[in-house]
Amino acid sequence: MLTMTSHDPIALDAQHVLQVYRRAPVVFESGKGCALFTRDGERYLDLISGVGVASLGHGNPTLARAIAEQASTLLHTSNLFHHPLQSELASRLAALSGLPRAFFCNSGAEAVEACLKFARRFWHAQGTPRTMFVALNHSFHGRTMGAVSVTWDDHYRAPFAPLVPGVTFVDPADPAAIAAAITRDTAAVIVEPIQGEGGVRPLSQTAADAIAAACRRTGALLIADEVQCGLGRTGRTFYSGALGLQPDLMALGKALGAGVPIGAAMFSDRVAAAAKPGDHGSTYGGNLLACRAALVFLEELTENGLMAHVAKVGAHLERGLRAIASRQPAITAVRGAGVMWGLDINRPAAAVVDAARERKLLVNRTSDTVIRLLPPYVITESEVDEALPLLEAAIASAVEAPAQ
Ligand SMILES: Cc1ncc(COP(=O)(O)O)c(C=O)c1O
Repeated sequence: MLTMTSHDPIALDAQHVLQVYRRAPVVFESGKGCALFTRDGERYLDLISGVGVASLGHGNPTLARAIAEQASTLLHTSNLFHHPLQSELASRLAALSGLPRAFFCNSGAEAVEACLKFARRFWHAQGTPRTMFVALNHSFHGRTMGAVSVTWDDHYRAPFAPLVPGVTFVDPADPAAIAAAITRDTAAVIVEPIQGEGGVRPLSQTAADAIAAACRRTGALLIADEVQCGLGRTGRTFYSGALGLQPDLMALGKALGAGVPIGAAMFSDRVAAAAKPGDHGSTYGGNLLACRAALVFLEELTENGLMAHVAKVGAHLERGLRAIASRQPAITAVRGAGVMWGLDINRPAAAVVDAARERKLLVNRTSDTVIRLLPPYVITESEVDEALPLLEAAIASAVEAPAQ
């Protein structure tokens, strides 16, 4: 066994890991379902699932069996050759999304990157190059140069300037501004149907209609970034569909591999038709291990009732959160769907996250004042009932505590 089990991971991290994360001072060694366990066996209820990734919960036996079997059969051959799992996964995602072709990569940011590149590739192939992108205020699309260029918050952007040029940000609450920003120079508009990192903000129907109308009028392509809100998290396959949007490109990630890194970009036929061998690629993208995990996830989601479960347990969670909001005046808004929720509070949310962790409940903060919940899809109603009083107590204690 090569892993060092007796060292102090926090001290070693401080010495040798690039310090780009504000990690909580807790070390997890195992998990089961919605629970995570420390070395000392302390149990935490996990309502963030590794930022929306552990969709099937921790230590899922079906996934673990499939991964172990795949590991002893074949893990990786690269995209120099065919293997049976990548095309099967592509066809399943095509059936789910209505977008017939997939490119596989290893993260959400890479999926966004592929969407941005192939939006430009499409216009280049038309002989009428368009290079501009329109993105929304409060957007978050990832950390690669392209993805961060369509990400709104200056905090993620400024240290890395100059970014990819030609991006306009628009306020989703202003349909006239949307109509003005999307022009015949726009290669694509990129939207998160529910913004995640930006504070769990669902796109309004008015904004979605304005974007769809402007895309129709100008021919601009539509990219749906469903990395966080897609693939059943809201109780619907994709939230863009719930808003009546018909994207030409879609970015997927997070829940897809249920913990094994995989991202996918999905393309309409006309966008895919512009792609030529050599245009894009990824050494790891769509390897056997990642595809096997994603196939297990999709089977659970679509054939074994997980999407219906999310809709039902999500409604239960929503009722509980709204009840808490009715008792806690610090909560100014409850936003989300399914098992993706944000509680906006009238002060920084970091203290609530710490107070919840002291109560052995894991949630996180996004957009300063928003407490975000992204539990595993498999969370049960009784686990919701266990979590909600802990969350309410954490909110109440953080509100009572004197401001720092
Ligand atoms: C909507 C959205 N797009 C893209 C990304 C980037 O995904 P990754 O961190 O896997 O690169 C994220 C990550 O939080 C996201 O929420």
